[in-house]
Amino acid sequence: MAEYKEIDSVAVIELKNPPANALSKALVTGLNNGVKRAIDNPRIKSIVLIGNGQHFSAGADITEFPRVADVTSKQGVSLLTVGDVIESCNKPVVSAIHGVCFGGGLEIALFSHYRLAVQSAKLGFPEVSLGILPGANGTQRLPRVVGFEVAMDMIVSGKPVSAPQALQYGILDKIVDGDLLTAAVQFAKTLNTVPHDRRLKNVPVPNSENANKHFEEKLAKIKQKQRGYIAPINCLKAVKASVDLPYSEGVTKEFQLFMELMSSAQARGQQYSFFSERAATKWYLSASKNYKVSKDIPVKTAGVIGAGTMGSGIAVSLLTSGIPVILVEQDSKNLERGIELIKSILQGGVKLKRMTQSQMNQILQILQPTTKIEDLQSVDLIIEAVFENLKLKQELFSKLDKICKRDTVLCSNTSTLDIDKIAKSTSRPEKVVGTHFFAPAHIMPLLENVYGNHTSAETIATVMKLSKKIRKIPVLVKTCHGFVANRTFFEYSQELRFVVEEGLLPNEVDDILEDFGMPMGVFKVNDLSGIDVGWRIRQEQAIANGFNLTTNTRYINGERYCAIADKIFQAGRYGRKTGKGWYQYDKPGGRVAMVDPNVNNIILNHCKELGLTRRKISTQEVIERCMFAAINEGFRCLEDGIASKPEEIDTIWLHGFGFPRYRGGPMFYASQVGLRKVYERIKYYQKHFPETSHWIASEMLQRIAESGRNVPISEWTKFNPTPTSSR
Ligand code: 3HC
Ligand code: NAI
Repeated sequence: MAEYKEIDSVAVIELKNPPANALSKALVTGLNNGVKRAIDNPRIKSIVLIGNGQHFSAGADITEFPRVADVTSKQGVSLLTVGDVIESCNKPVVSAIHGVCFGGGLEIALFSHYRLAVQSAKLGFPEVSLGILPGANGTQRLPRVVGFEVAMDMIVSGKPVSAPQALQYGILDKIVDGDLLTAAVQFAKTLNTVPHDRRLKNVPVPNSENANKHFEEKLAKIKQKQRGYIAPINCLKAVKASVDLPYSEGVTKEFQLFMELMSSAQARGQQYSFFSERAATKWYLSASKNYKVSKDIPVKTAGVIGAGTMGSGIAVSLLTSGIPVILVEQDSKNLERGIELIKSILQGGVKLKRMTQSQMNQILQILQPTTKIEDLQSVDLIIEAVFENLKLKQELFSKLDKICKRDTVLCSNTSTLDIDKIAKSTSRPEKVVGTHFFAPAHIMPLLENVYGNHTSAETIATVMKLSKKIRKIPVLVKTCHGFVANRTFFEYSQELRFVVEEGLLPNEVDDILEDFGMPMGVFKVNDLSGIDVGWRIRQEQAIANGFNLTTNTRYINGERYCAIADKIFQAGRYGRKTGKGWYQYDKPGGRVAMVDPNVNNIILNHCKELGLTRRKISTQEVIERCMFAAINEGFRCLEDGIASKPEEIDTIWLHGFGFPRYRGGPMFYASQVGLRKVYERIKYYQKHFPETSHWIASEMLQRIAESGRNVPISEWTKFNPTPTSSR
């Protein structure tokens, strides 16, 4: 775990716990033994700590977290005990850093007396994203190096800094070129003693005059931007303790704030999210078709068809990852508009200093706009993003099939349509796949990749790899109407429209959802994605089912239907882009949503016409109805083999809909409420709303709930009554 060797008078202790040198109990014990061995050996004059493999260390081993005491307790060998041994050692200790030096890894480095790194190293405290704080004295030691304000920013945001930045802050003593170990050993040989100020606990926090002011400003920002999260607040309080208290009391305060977080439900949710988003990217169809063995086709050039809301954002995602794009529109007017859209997105990046003007110009050089679809004949992969219309998409795919080289992968950004129906229009269904981006496509991290019955493993591997290349979090699901994201979100939003029909106003519902932790209420989301888009999807689906949808529709095949959204559409309120939708906006495209009495009138008139008596609806009922409807549908996705594990559904909600990370995702939320209770409440709602089939409890949910035990999420799929896939 920690390998000990001697190079002349220098002891080298190598952290070795692949792939990320997480500081497991075994590694920490090995490190402790190594340092003690070096201390006991009179020939050794100094010590180098270095990481084996790709990284110095990714911090404490998160898989061991349930045993909280192991991380920071003074009993046994913990990070704190080994930290004390390192700091109090009379032989200089040098941390030699490459890859990442995160969390407990950076704490070890801050216990060391000197720190060197290669240019590409990254250093930081990401604990806040796990719902905790740097609990091995990181909150007390970092401020002593970088001052209150920088420490506060680094620890509260969790964002890492580059080696040059760390050098500037004083975290690093030196950046080295060439072989890190050689440079570190050479450096260590020049050291004889440990000066007093090289033990950070002896040093006061510099530049802390305005700490109170910075603290208050940061607190206000956290409350506004990270509403509901407790970890950033405790991180901030802990860093403040480094200024307000002597070191020995500061670390006690840190421990108390750390334990508060470690035992919180939020930390459980955030740590679950860390593992679920990694589990979700591991796709598996069979022993010969999975993420480990399937090879991808390299994507060197791409095509995007349709430069509207989605196509322009998709093009930007590809271009900014260095992939040249041929952008196809139906005519020059739409093409011009699309190019302007792309330029304005990139210009936004320049304004936010994410790129320079000259980088933007270089990016535009690899964009080739055209109105000729034939120009796509030799690209490696194409993403179609035209209107949500099956016939149009089939015509396009049929054309592409004739134009493109045989191994071009053909992707559709459809948000609902069956990939098999699109693939059918080609002679290469194995090359057809869904790549469902979320709006705005250049910002939202999720990419819901959708395979059909004929999609090959090579095609899947290609889009999964491409997703990572363009910095997205990919989740693979199977085709069906709406896939996982829209299928579950549909039930969630449908239930909320019923709530509006029964008694609450859109802004009242949105307030409840935002208090629950959603970044935006559902009606604001509808306004953002376009009331017309939702209307078109409903119409398409009705037509596909041979049904004529009107604003008088109350039932579709015996299923309750709420036509209020259609009435909003009929009133010409298409959402933010037209300056009015469920809300009134300050201007077309504006962001300031205001309650509009006209919308309330549409709702109240709708209820009057139908003779519906409105009632008060509690917050609990709103949350239960929307969440449990989505959760029940999530279980059905598992039953149908559309999703293969609950972690996929949770990752989709976290990164596609901004579900609060501290709640883990809807399926994890269900596990916290208790599946027995979820099941009972679903049965209750079914009794009250028999004309809504999403209240018929999933059989899988029923089986788990009735099993009489608390089944962990990892075992839920064992209760699937109809396993349809080998995944
Ligand atoms: N503990 C346990 N496992 C870890 C880990 C950690 N700290 N960091 C990474 N891993 C595991 C991942 O789960 C994954 O396992 P898998 O292959 O079985 O899925 C594997 O290492 C590789 O990780 P990634 O897939 O994320 O690989 P990347 O190359 O994309 O990223 C990384 C590597 C940058 C190290 C990233 O994994 C990361 O950011 N890790 C988390 C770092 C973190 O949050 N550290 C703080 C820990 S808390 C702490 O230190 C508390 C202390 O203050 C007391
Ligand atoms: P949009 O209406 O903004 O853009 C569609 C573009 O396609 C238009 O610019 C149009 O001129 C162009 N187009 C139409 N026919 C064409 C053809 N034959 N050749 C070339 N270009 C053609 O639509 P939007 O919102 O970008 O949606 C596109 C697709 O993405 C749809 O399938 C939609 O369901 C899906 N989607 C939409 C999301 C959203 O929030 N808007 C989210 C996720 C998916």
